[in-house]
Amino acid sequence: MATTAARADYRDSGLEFPPGFTFGSATAAYQVEGAANEDGRGPSIWDTFSRTPGKVWNGDTGDVACDHYHRWESDLDLMGELGLGAYRFSIAWPRILPSGRGEVNRRGVDFYSRLVDGLLERGIRPVATLYHWDLPQALEDEGGWTARSTADAFEDYARIMGEALGDRVHTWTTLNEPWCSAYLGYGQGGHAPGRHEPASALAAVHHLNLAHGRAVQALRATSTGSPEYSITLNFHVLRPGGEGAAEAMRRADALANRAFTHPLLRREYPADLLDDTKSVTDWSFVRDGDLATINQPIDVLGVNYYSTATVRAWDGVSPRQMNDGHKGDAGGTAWPGSDQVLEFIQQPGPYTAMGWNIAPEGLEELLVSLSEQFPGQPLMVTENGAAFDDVVSADGSVPDPERLDYLRRHLTAAHRALQRGVDLRGYFVWSLLDNFEWGYGYAKRFGIVRVDFDTLERTVKDSGRWFAELAKTRRIPT
Ligand code: NOJ
Repeated sequence: MATTAARADYRDSGLEFPPGFTFGSATAAYQVEGAANEDGRGPSIWDTFSRTPGKVWNGDTGDVACDHYHRWESDLDLMGELGLGAYRFSIAWPRILPSGRGEVNRRGVDFYSRLVDGLLERGIRPVATLYHWDLPQALEDEGGWTARSTADAFEDYARIMGEALGDRVHTWTTLNEPWCSAYLGYGQGGHAPGRHEPASALAAVHHLNLAHGRAVQALRATSTGSPEYSITLNFHVLRPGGEGAAEAMRRADALANRAFTHPLLRREYPADLLDDTKSVTDWSFVRDGDLATINQPIDVLGVNYYSTATVRAWDGVSPRQMNDGHKGDAGGTAWPGSDQVLEFIQQPGPYTAMGWNIAPEGLEELLVSLSEQFPGQPLMVTENGAAFDDVVSADGSVPDPERLDYLRRHLTAAHRALQRGVDLRGYFVWSLLDNFEWGYGYAKRFGIVRVDFDTLERTVKDSGRWFAELAKTRRIPT
């Protein structure tokens, strides 16, 4: 890959994307909606977590967020003005089923039905994610993703959504980044529900995979349109960090990448994963038939990419470096069964405001590698973007040259992957709006549209105008 990186500086202008290539933007319910206590929404694990002192910077919560729940029409108008072809949003499970299962809250269903209609009226494809981390608290109280019954509940929820929106949704995505739900939620604890239980993290991996398979079956059975089916994964593009790095990379790849791709696309858990983790669990939560359920054909594999991750063997003595970002946070306790051997170390910069290194060549490498590992599987970049500390000019405009440069470089990398024969169908920028960045609250801004969190006013940033030009011309603007 070094040769590719040397060949390209990833700043090309004028490159043209093929007809039909989708340019969209992405958000997630808890990060933008607000209206946490309105229209019958039940509490989620992120309501509980963000109210727990010390868990989220500045004590921020998603109670108001971007107030998208009330401003959705003008936000859709904004997307229309930017000329976006698709909108990737998530449905809040606790709006649909306030207790996780049982009685359906029609007002919640109606909100998403109006949203989907509003998108279609504006010629924007609805790409709906069923689970972007806001598990109904009632289900966490019964064990959350460590319990198989949560996959049962998810199947029921998927069926309800298939019946309600399956005539109009263009793409169904079951889960967003189950790596985060499992390892950060149940292993490392930096995300809701904040548990530190290595064995539970692995049970969560399996129950999330199972929930995906069950949901695809339920959506297929109920959707009367002809939607596409997908799941979004956050892949770890690994770099060696020194001594013992080859083994550390193999272990990290098994835990972070193949723990998902292999059951989903190959109907198996990798043998080395089971072996690496045998001191933590015997994987007896995997039942006969589960792998066949998980291995549903999908139309597109969603790829979230932000940066690379550098690993090495831990010497067992020096303090482990724990980076700020969610990649680095994975060090140590997030890696059940591997905490004796794996260490995530500081990667070479430059960095975004998250402390994540900027490495567009990693995106090209990832897309090429996935298309080699899983031939015939179409791919979609479902998230890519960057947080920077934006400064508002005196005239109210928001010049954000670093974000613009990040997007240009990564779109160039995506284009290079296309040229190398990757079946890449589209690119969604994270995010449409500055929003609630999980453990960082409102301190980290990823939007191509600025949100003033005092007035909730929206301002399109320079990167937003640039992205609109790209969506309009299908060429990387100069
Ligand atoms: C991954 C997540 O899907 C999204 O919710 C988050 O805000 C971005 N990446 C940035 O961290």
